[in-house]
Amino acid sequence: MIQVEGLSKIFNDKKRGKVIALDNISFNCQQGQIFGLLGPNGAGKTTTLRILATMLVPTQGRVKVKGLDVVREAPQVRKCIGFLSSETGLYDRFTPRETIKFFGRINGVEDKIIEKRRAEIFYNLKMEDFQDIRVSKLSTGMKQKLSIARSIIHNPPVLILDEPTVGLDIITARTVLEYVKKFREEGKCIIYSTHIMREAEKLCDIMAIIHQGKIIAQGSLEELKKNSSSHSDDLEDVFFELIKQGEV
Ligand SMILES: Nc1ncnc2c1ncn2[C@@H]1O[C@H](COP(=O)(O)OP(=O)(O)O)[C@@H](O)[C@H]1O
Ligand SMILES: [Mg+2]
Repeated sequence: MIQVEGLSKIFNDKKRGKVIALDNISFNCQQGQIFGLLGPNGAGKTTTLRILATMLVPTQGRVKVKGLDVVREAPQVRKCIGFLSSETGLYDRFTPRETIKFFGRINGVEDKIIEKRRAEIFYNLKMEDFQDIRVSKLSTGMKQKLSIARSIIHNPPVLILDEPTVGLDIITARTVLEYVKKFREEGKCIIYSTHIMREAEKLCDIMAIIHQGKIIAQGSLEELKKNSSSHSDDLEDVFFELIKQGEV
């Protein structure tokens, strides 16, 4: 469903000059799969996901979503993805209920279907208690839930989630993780970025470890463990081991 081939992105930064944010990365993600993009801050996760979501044009390489090219067929790609990032905006004056109606309509969803989807999403994300309170009065976790709800109101087959649990307490994070698993059961294709090993370990079917714009290892948890010389059961050990191997 998602094919990334030889993807590179170079930014021309005024202060830093040429920044190689992504250096020739490739991966695939199928339906009913959670693909984890795992890496520390600055590794290139957000850049990758922004390219997938048509928000950023690659310097080199090809990305296809459901067979559609993210550069040449961006409008069609946008219809079949839900993108959550730290920049997913909300309006302070709206309540969650109004927010969903607004973004549902923007995405061309009929009012009746918006209402049905809203009820379902708010139930699953445990949002019912605050659905009529203005966004300006919501906590960080509540807002994050609403951003997630906003990004999936059109029921897209592909979800691109950029560190969806950042800043959430453990209970809210768990609710979000459970919901992501439900998406997998529904057969969606999910790209999930995180810097939290435990999360990737619990959630992802396949993962790519990204470091300084390069994928340094890719596969199932078992495969990653097998390939690291630490032979540890702990993904965090594996991660540091792979980074060390990559630097040699
Ligand atoms: N618009 C931009 N202009 C210049 N450099 C950028 C821009 N966006 C990201 N970068 C750089 O690209 C690299 C990867 O960033 P990013 O994809 O945000 O990493 P992550 O999401 O894994 O923390 C970093 O060095 C970052 O500073
Ligand atoms: Mg990021």
